[in-house]
Amino acid sequence: MANDILRVQDVHISFAEERKSFLEKRKIREVLKGVSFTMREGEVLGLVGESGCGKSTLAKAILGLSHPDKGNIEHFSEHPQMVFQDPYGSLNPAKKIGWILEEPLRIKGGFTPQERREKALAMLKKVGLEETIADRYPNQLSGGQRQRVCIGAALMLSPKLLIADEAVSALDVTIQAQILELLLSLKEEMGLAILFISHDMRVVYQMSDRVIIMKDGEIVERGDVDSVYFNPQHPYTRTLLEAAGIIEDEER
Ligand SMILES: Nc1ncnc2c1ncn2[C@@H]1O[C@H](COP(=O)(O)OP(=O)(O)OP(=O)(O)O)[C@@H](O)[C@H]1O
Ligand SMILES: [Mg+2]
Repeated sequence: MANDILRVQDVHISFAEERKSFLEKRKIREVLKGVSFTMREGEVLGLVGESGCGKSTLAKAILGLSHPDKGNIEHFSEHPQMVFQDPYGSLNPAKKIGWILEEPLRIKGGFTPQERREKALAMLKKVGLEETIADRYPNQLSGGQRQRVCIGAALMLSPKLLIADEAVSALDVTIQAQILELLLSLKEEMGLAILFISHDMRVVYQMSDRVIIMKDGEIVERGDVDSVYFNPQHPYTRTLLEAAGIIEDEER
């Protein structure tokens, strides 16, 4: 039995809504309403649900970028890392790729310049890019190449948990498939656990061992991907699967 790598317990997060006028009382909206789940070492856990249901809010809380109002998040590994949807926005345009890959090592410290360079070049290879890419700037790469760099940068400190938040949504379908394949092979090679966030039901099926279905800040269904997809218990899961054309509408 694999060890737990992440435990999320009864997490609540609220945001204050904008007031239409200063006379209006400030309303608080709860975006996460008591979310609990566990991730195990080396598994891919899919997280799906419609836009605005709280997926990215949950991802940020796991990374420690925001704090739950209630509940807690326990990590059993160092350095969880995130890969975002927009591979261009998350790379410093003024720096060469080699420098970007070396940055996590520079921040951590304890590496000679030569060690950093070697590790950066080895990572380029690992994510399927040529060493010459190290001397290019982000705007000299394709979208798919940039996303490979982002994944490489996230993996420089050998995290055991990677959060991929719509990591392939901005890429076209063939490039998407290549990046998904890369993530799966890195998972095997590095024993990575991946929290795979997406609104694409098919992609989630392809990637995940287990899946969580979220609606309005709550988990409505969870389980092994095959049982959730082919024996859904919650009407909302069925709606998502029908909309994606994965199961047939029973009414028809
Ligand atoms: N910092 C913030 N302040 C106020 N409201 C916020 C903040 N961050 C998120 N929200 C709101 O919380 C809700 C959930 O947002 P979140 O980004 O988690 O959704 P999501 O499930 O990731 O959606 P998508 O699939 O579109 O990425 C949204 O209604 C959003 O407007
Ligand atoms: Mg989001």
